Amino acid sequence: MRSLLVGLTLIVIAIAAPRMAAQKVELSIDASEPGAKIDRNLFGQFAEHLGHGVYDGIWVGSDSTIPNTRGIRNDVVAALKAIHVPNVRWPGGCFADGYHWRDGIGAQRGVRLNPDWGGVIEPNTFGTHEFMDFIDQIGSEAYVSVNLGSGSPHEAADWLEYMTAAQATTLEKERAANGHPAPYKVAWLGLGNESWDCGGNMTPEYYLDRMKIFSRFVRNYNPEQIEKDQMLKIAVGPGGGEQRWTDWTETVMKAYQQHTWSWDINGLSMHSYTVVKWPPAFKSAGFGEDEYAQILKTTLDMDDLIKKHSAIMDKYDPQKKVALVVDEWGSWYAPLPGSNPGFLVQQNSLRDAILAALNINIFARHADRVRGANIAQMINVLQAMILTDHEKMVLTPTYYIYKMYVPFQDSTFVPVTFDAGRYKHSDFTLPRVDAMAAKSKEGKLWVEITNVDPHQAAEVELTVTGINAKSAVGKTLTAPKVDSVNTFEAPNIVVPKPISARAQGGKLILQLEPKSVTVVSVEQ
Ligand code: AHR
Repeated sequence: MRSLLVGLTLIVIAIAAPRMAAQKVELSIDASEPGAKIDRNLFGQFAEHLGHGVYDGIWVGSDSTIPNTRGIRNDVVAALKAIHVPNVRWPGGCFADGYHWRDGIGAQRGVRLNPDWGGVIEPNTFGTHEFMDFIDQIGSEAYVSVNLGSGSPHEAADWLEYMTAAQATTLEKERAANGHPAPYKVAWLGLGNESWDCGGNMTPEYYLDRMKIFSRFVRNYNPEQIEKDQMLKIAVGPGGGEQRWTDWTETVMKAYQQHTWSWDINGLSMHSYTVVKWPPAFKSAGFGEDEYAQILKTTLDMDDLIKKHSAIMDKYDPQKKVALVVDEWGSWYAPLPGSNPGFLVQQNSLRDAILAALNINIFARHADRVRGANIAQMINVLQAMILTDHEKMVLTPTYYIYKMYVPFQDSTFVPVTFDAGRYKHSDFTLPRVDAMAAKSKEGKLWVEITNVDPHQAAEVELTVTGINAKSAVGKTLTAPKVDSVNTFEAPNIVVPKPISARAQGGKLILQLEPKSVTVVSVEQ
């Protein structure tokens, strides 16, 4: 009886509650005005030897009861294939500058400690061959970071020769004896990681001297990469907007302007986490609108940071030959209670999905300079795509953003004009709506719209010129609450649903839910 009364009361309240009128948003797209290419590598991932990112997340070993192919989990591979991961950055992070590749090849692996991340045993059962097998299984490319901190140019040069040589050198024969006669492709090469901090606390000048030596001697011998499809070398870049990091960008880019034949770089890395302040204290689940608004407001700082460092790069490289590669980004919250703090375990909510969409749109708007980005990190660590627990696996809200954005990979940016309006909560004011459009490789127009406002729906009136737009269909992602999450027990709380627009008076009308991300293709 009591539950019946409560139920009836809730129904009465629901009927009585005034429904907020949808906010009207006019959005115009001129499809005949294409811009820069949105490089598929903006959708890169990062897999460090950290917590359960690699071990359990990817690698379970071939004798595991968890279905696997040569030790690599089949469920994770299938999920990653569906989001078309363009590249995976590995083995770190801070871990990379302490990593010795010989520990991870052959029958006898070097068992070490992982002092950066929880001080646990690093068995090195996942090494070069296992990483390359994983990349191959998910249809991706390798972004290998070499150890410029505690390693030597000699060690890194040998690793590249081991991976890429096609001629019968000692290292090539060793690779073949270990099971892979054909040379591996190393698409991207990281020359150190955060060398201003965990990578060795170097000054920019010291780093530059060392980086030039690595750039010179760490060679890729894969015959298929010598002319075309060359390996891209990414130098360590800034980790923020303060002077120490603008100085860093200045130093590296100024040197680049005068570089000679004997060294080169193709990219400058940038790391920027959404954290509000260190150490990370915000909860990844079980939070309210204050934390929603503050985190999303903070994440938008990415735009200014890119502008700041791009301006310095433009001075020394006006032709934009050197890409800005945001190869670590994402939300960084307090570790989940009860987890090893060194494992950086956090939940992933609808807020993270919106955060991901806002950042990808920022990258796309700077696509002429930002040609790579790697969200941190792929599985079980920070803003992950996938969470696993032994045999269980769940796809996060962020995963679904990457899935919805697949058509934007290698698409061409198309400018969108709209009045974003304002969403204000407490001390935080931010744009209510964000939007991005692009023409896919197949020539189809795709539009993304984020409604940041957690209360008010948006009625979008889309005017498209340059093509005869008749309808739009796609997917929208929302959930009951800003902190809604997917769990192993309830994996479908935050999943995309179909959406379509109706045509009216030469426009397309889309009804967007509050706190939602929508991607539609425009049909002609
Ligand atoms: O992603 C976790 C860590 O954050 C990386 O190892 C390091 O590069 C950064 O500080």
